[in-house]
Amino acid sequence: MGFPIQRMRRLRRNETIRRMVRETTLSVNDLIYPLFVQPGEGVRHEISSMPGNYRLSVDELIREAVEVEKLGIPAIILFGIPSHKDENASEGLADDGIIQQAVRALKNEVKELQIITDVCLCEYTSHGHCGWVVDGQVDNDSTLKMLQEMAVSHVRAGADMVAPSDMMDGRVGAIREALDKNDFSGIPIMSYAAKFSSAFYGPFRDAADSAPQFGDRRSYQMDPANGDEAMREVELDIEEGADIVMVKPALSYMDLIRRVKEEFAMPVAAYNVSGEFAMVKAADKAGWIDGERVMMEILLSIKRAGADLILTYFAKDVAKILAG
Ligand code: PBG
Repeated sequence: MGFPIQRMRRLRRNETIRRMVRETTLSVNDLIYPLFVQPGEGVRHEISSMPGNYRLSVDELIREAVEVEKLGIPAIILFGIPSHKDENASEGLADDGIIQQAVRALKNEVKELQIITDVCLCEYTSHGHCGWVVDGQVDNDSTLKMLQEMAVSHVRAGADMVAPSDMMDGRVGAIREALDKNDFSGIPIMSYAAKFSSAFYGPFRDAADSAPQFGDRRSYQMDPANGDEAMREVELDIEEGADIVMVKPALSYMDLIRRVKEEFAMPVAAYNVSGEFAMVKAADKAGWIDGERVMMEILLSIKRAGADLILTYFAKDVAKILAG
């Protein structure tokens, strides 16, 4: 039974009918907004490759968070830029580090907003790698101890959720164990479970000043060619206690968002990363695309692929559009 009995266009005749059969909807509840915090006061430094995104001092971060909460966005994820970087990532682990200060201040000012912290060493290490370096290699197991310390100090400061993004083996289990031992068994972990070694992180590394000073991240982040391996990464993180699993980046990895959602029936997050954001902004500025429509189409398709949550630098813009 096909044409002319079947006519697909019948359900596309007008906007109301299209609305009735629409399968996917984007909601403000799906959004997580990434923010960058640095030391100082009154600092609001625009990141040149990420228009509309800033490195903020804690006072400015609070103003931003209040606005984000008013827009109904449920969560932010924080990245820190320390005043000083060293081999030990000292400021990342310290109870008075920039993230810890920011979280403490935020918890006094915004009550509903969930504060997620990115747990990774690369923003704090002088060499820019995501772990402890021995003979030019990132050492997995000694890095785990540092990540445990970092996660516990974030939660002690008041973080509602931690998000390890380092791609060390065993880090979700290690962080779960450390949190539980410190009476934080109720704090969820959103793991960057399938995180690829991607050129799409370029603008983020400008923002966080976290480009590796030697080599690259291919000995710990995943090879973009590998899908089955991503499924194993996700499975292991779930076994180790991940509450939400993330695929990152989003657009070149839509197949995995779908596979992960179908295979594991877990809350799935997708990170619409800095390079994906920057491309849209640049093309919009050049007048080559309608940036707003492209933004909505991208986020909707990430949702359709299977993501429940989307980390995106577009969060505020989208929330405004959704609010009408
Ligand atoms: C830290 C981290 C990175 C991103 C999130 N957490 C950078 C990287 O791994 O090099 C990238 C986010 C983005 O590009 O928007 N490890």
